[in-house]
Amino acid sequence: MYTQGLDQRAPEGAAKAADDAAALVAFQARIDAEEKIEPNDWMPQGYRRTLVRQISQHAHSEIVGMLPEGNWITRAPSLRRKMILLAKVQDEGGHGLYLYSAAETLGVPRAEMVEQLLAGKAKYSSIFNYPTLTWADIGAIGWLVDGAAIMNQVPLCRCSYGPYARAMIRICREESFHQRQGYELMLKLAQGTSGQKRMAQDALNRWWWPSLMMFGPSDKESIHSSQNMAWKIKRVSNDDLRQKFIDVTVPQGHFLGLTFPDPELRLDEASGHWLHGPIDWTEFNRILAGDGPCNRERMAARRKAHADGAWVREAAAAHAAKRANRQRAKAAE
Ligand code: 3HC
Repeated sequence: MYTQGLDQRAPEGAAKAADDAAALVAFQARIDAEEKIEPNDWMPQGYRRTLVRQISQHAHSEIVGMLPEGNWITRAPSLRRKMILLAKVQDEGGHGLYLYSAAETLGVPRAEMVEQLLAGKAKYSSIFNYPTLTWADIGAIGWLVDGAAIMNQVPLCRCSYGPYARAMIRICREESFHQRQGYELMLKLAQGTSGQKRMAQDALNRWWWPSLMMFGPSDKESIHSSQNMAWKIKRVSNDDLRQKFIDVTVPQGHFLGLTFPDPELRLDEASGHWLHGPIDWTEFNRILAGDGPCNRERMAARRKAHADGAWVREAAAAHAAKRANRQRAKAAE
């Protein structure tokens, strides 16, 4: 949508010359003054690269994230639940599309980003490599996973890059609906039969730690945070967002009458924060390396969907070419 007329890739020499000290100072001054950077504005190559990395990873996460929940659409226990889940999964697909469009404004074609995902070269969120074993997992995903996503993504509405910030506004509104439907589902289960309550507790036990890992490595280990924060792509650190999420979510879990799978979880009266036990970063790193419970299954499903959709892409491209030819012929009359 924004790519027409965009100077996609500056020649190597020109990019180097442009990245000189004066340009960098002027760029940082714009960021510090809270100006939005737009697609045709000058930007350091590192800023462009980091945005492409983050926005494309985010887009891939939305698309891969459709798989664990999509899996339950046919098994939803009522028509109402089926409609809600269908709408939610469809929303996630839409989020992926806005985000690919936002990344394209930086000069990278969507086909190239998708290719990197399918080739296993691009990351997507660790959380989507866990299985959805019971219906309660759909509630836990909405409550915890979408809840964590909102906590991380509301600050992105103030990201310095205009197209990303604007895409995030709508995405956050929809994620907020997703979080509420998840919590409502958990509430129904928690108030239901003892079997339903057990199912809700089991889902919380399995999704709690992976949800905390969604925020990324600790601030000490986060390689991109300091530069991303200076560029105001990221506004709040991984650990601070994680803590905010825990502080909001623990009382919600207690209201449901559920317990958290962390024996060290306790309220620190002095700070008002819920203190948590150690996170298993070995598990996180294993997932990032492609060896989580469902990494292979997710990538196989994505590759199959991409291959199955080839005829749709071909038909759309042929239709677009036909329309363009017709318009050109009309303009020449
Ligand atoms: N899963 C996979 N990779 C992760 C990760 C996670 N949960 N957390 C961090 N990483 C990766 C980073 O991408 C980076 O890898 P790279 O250098 O190869 O790109 C590495 O771990 C180091 O992490 P950093 O903290 O240094 O990286 P960032 O400063 O980029 O912070 C982030 C990580 C917080 C995830 C940030 O990129 C971000 O805010 N991204 C946008 C939000 C996003 O992608 N969310 C996906 C969640 S799912 C979702 O939104 C779908 C919804 O429907 C639920």
